[in-house]
Amino acid sequence: MRRKFIYTIGILAAIVFATSCQYKFIVEPVVPPPDPGDTVYYSQEIEPIYSTQGCTGCHNTGGTQPDLSAGNSYNSITSMGLVDVGDPVASKIYYYPLPDGSHFAKYTSVQAALILGWIEQGANDN
Ligand code: HEC
Repeated sequence: MRRKFIYTIGILAAIVFATSCQYKFIVEPVVPPPDPGDTVYYSQEIEPIYSTQGCTGCHNTGGTQPDLSAGNSYNSITSMGLVDVGDPVASKIYYYPLPDGSHFAKYTSVQAALILGWIEQGANDN
């Protein structure tokens, strides 16, 4: 009787052990920002990210600020103080939608690296 009880506990423990580990198999690669000599262009490389990632579904003219729609996003993010050239990683437009963040939509690690690189290069309206 006692032995059966120990077996039962053992089997239950094995089941709990086997099912409790939830591994996160998809590990986002840490992508280094582009080379400083490799100019990142806002209009061609950064602004299109907002529509690709679905940001503009909420962040558009008349919608949630910042307005991330094409042609308006640069003025909107800079006037709202979401870009910090002095401390690029503290820029909200960079860190808020990071891949491991909790915002409604996120950047991929490659996009995040590109945005960080653009800010490090001075956040130019290029
Ligand atoms: C489902 C709607 C929705 C989507 C999609 C969305 N956002 Fe947002 N976003 C919001 C709302 C609502 C807020 C304000 C509340 C908050 O801070 O969460 C916000 C806030 C922000 C802020 C902070 C603004 C501030 O004043 O501090 C940034 C930056 C931002 N979003 C960027 C993005 C980017 C970039 C994307 C795409 C990768 C995105 N958002 C996608 C709804 C959305």
